[in-house]
Amino acid sequence: MSEQQSTLLRPRERPGANGATAVAQPNIALIKYWGKRDEHLFLPWTSSLSMTLDIFPTTTRVRLDAGAADDEVTFNGAPAGDGERRRITGFLDLVRHRAGLAHRAVVDTRNTVPTGAGLASSAGGFAALAVAAAAAYGLDLDPASLSRLARRGSGSASRSVFGGFAVWNAGTWTAPPAEADLSSYAEPVAVGDLDPALVIAVVDAGPKEVSSRAAMRRTVETSPLFEPWAASSRDDLTGMRAALLRADLDAVGEIAERNFLGMHATMLSARPAVRYLSPASLTVLDSVLQLRRDGTSAYATMDAGPNVKVLCHRADADRVAEAVRTAAAGGTVHIAGPGRGARLLDEGGR
Ligand code: DP6
Repeated sequence: MSEQQSTLLRPRERPGANGATAVAQPNIALIKYWGKRDEHLFLPWTSSLSMTLDIFPTTTRVRLDAGAADDEVTFNGAPAGDGERRRITGFLDLVRHRAGLAHRAVVDTRNTVPTGAGLASSAGGFAALAVAAAAAYGLDLDPASLSRLARRGSGSASRSVFGGFAVWNAGTWTAPPAEADLSSYAEPVAVGDLDPALVIAVVDAGPKEVSSRAAMRRTVETSPLFEPWAASSRDDLTGMRAALLRADLDAVGEIAERNFLGMHATMLSARPAVRYLSPASLTVLDSVLQLRRDGTSAYATMDAGPNVKVLCHRADADRVAEAVRTAAAGGTVHIAGPGRGARLLDEGGR
């Protein structure tokens, strides 16, 4: 089935004349997405699982401009840089192709996450863009199709379409790419009576030297540890689903910690190595170990940057934040709970 034949992707008769505004939050993976098996379609090597946050929203408005020769992209009130503009235009081309409309768009996006610092700014960003652009171009998509669309902007964005915990299925390996594309989307995960928080220690909010995209490509191509990690990550996912279902925060945390440490081991063994861990990251990781020695359930995870996210019970979040703040001297600390999925805002901004 081609993309245009899909019954899930039928254009509405008249695309939203006034455009559409959507908001989405980032997510933090407890089972990581690291490595693509198809770069064009954003098909991941392994399935991943995350918690969508209730902080750091990105709000994006997309308005069609039939007379414009090019897309106009504003990022936090200023014209977007070339790289950002290309990524957004490439994504809109996909939406235009599906909608059968050539109109250019005016995109205004406001992001409250420190960009490019391993805090998943692209996840909330592309989830919001997918929802706003689909509505503006008149595509009537179900959540799985929206997730597939968001995936094409940034893999991790597929998960921010959903609130709470979501798993992004790697999809079928054997099918031709077009069929694998249909099977790779995120969906909600069943969770028991868990009241989790993620304490986020921003030890460095500057942009990173190597993008996660480039780093994961290098890892897949050169790290001798990549395939063993991918195999163990599949087992981690099985264990994680069971631990979430029985609301066992210690098991969730232990699995998340070993999964992220393994991911960083694959990068450290890439050629040349990619190292996002900084001395400040290690100090925060030490403080997490100390919290555990002192009897608090606290477990770390990290992404493609030096910042550390600490999973704990909501009731312990202030204490964990205090310990982490002391360790991350000079850094900032945020407490997040599970947040909502990407959604359209009405004219009143609700
Ligand atoms: C380390 O989704 O930013 O945060 O698909 O190339 O845009 P692209 O990569 P991106 O990678 C995120 C990787 C990660 C782990 C995760 O979120 O699962």
